[in-house]
Amino acid sequence: MSENDKNELLSSPNHHEWAKITNPNSPGVNSFKNYHWDFEKHCTQETPKLLSKTDLGYTSPEEQKNGNLGMTHPFKILTDEAVAICRDIMKNDENLKKYCAFNELEHDVMSHRHQENTYAYRNVAGINIFFREMLSCKKFEAYIRKITGEPIEFWELTWQSSHCNIQLAAEKFEEQPNIDWHTDVAQYAMLINISDMPENPEEGGETLLKKKNGEIIPMKYNTPGDTTIVSGVHIEHCGMPGKNYNKMVIAAGLGVSDTKRYMNQFAGVYAFWNGDSVHYTRQYTGMCIKRLEKQVAELAADEDKKSREELAGNVMKELANFKNSLNCFYDHVKNHRDDLNTEENKFLS
Ligand SMILES: [Fe+2]
Repeated sequence: MSENDKNELLSSPNHHEWAKITNPNSPGVNSFKNYHWDFEKHCTQETPKLLSKTDLGYTSPEEQKNGNLGMTHPFKILTDEAVAICRDIMKNDENLKKYCAFNELEHDVMSHRHQENTYAYRNVAGINIFFREMLSCKKFEAYIRKITGEPIEFWELTWQSSHCNIQLAAEKFEEQPNIDWHTDVAQYAMLINISDMPENPEEGGETLLKKKNGEIIPMKYNTPGDTTIVSGVHIEHCGMPGKNYNKMVIAAGLGVSDTKRYMNQFAGVYAFWNGDSVHYTRQYTGMCIKRLEKQVAELAADEDKKSREELAGNVMKELANFKNSLNCFYDHVKNHRDDLNTEENKFLS
């Protein structure tokens, strides 16, 4: 097969333009089993019930900033066909094993404290076309904005947008989280359960959320494809292991397009150990600069002083975050120069 034949899909109509694939030498370029995302076929377009941050007791002025959504009740976002495709990719696409498998237990970066049989696939949309298309699809994004009422946008930072948690076997401690209590770096998390599971499983596998008063709310997944979208940056949450099934969850980190809302995104040691640190930082830097360019253009066009000051204040906060992240990366490079997880770029961009 010639190089051109191999890369034929890059120019075919199947290769959605929005997926922005720029590396024709990526092993992911020929879609695994020729799976392609089709919004009409793969998204149910159901509308979930919502719980606001106020409903969960987060009512202080600081907590009320950056949107109203607390979380959605579980709802089936993906059709059975899409769930079957995602699961097949998780289990059988060899590229995931080669390029996406990271186990944070190896290093002292225990932010999620996985139990023994649970690990993460990172940057799946960096190597698999179906995930790439799904998590950059403008129709899917517009639908998520509509049902949540929030200006959610799909990040180009595929290391965050296509994180998946995979349980391989029953965990030793069934009553303890296999993804420990935490808040997210990403503004919103979309947790899509794609486990091979019995209908209405008795117990286990829930996402637990903490109300301001400490009360715990379990969000139970009853069917494969069931999903919760949570304002993970505000609300503490954890994942429980499946009991009579192995839990497999796409945990997509999502951003916001509103440039006045604080974008919390931070690049730190978790990202550097659990991924290709240079590729991650290149993506992260690109994303931050693109946002800054948009903010500068808006500042120049904004004639209202109050609104300009609000935006400028947010830019300063985000710049501080950006500066800390780059310093953290430089320290990582200095201290672990032989262990950066970085090789020739195999990812789709
Ligand atoms: Fe999370």
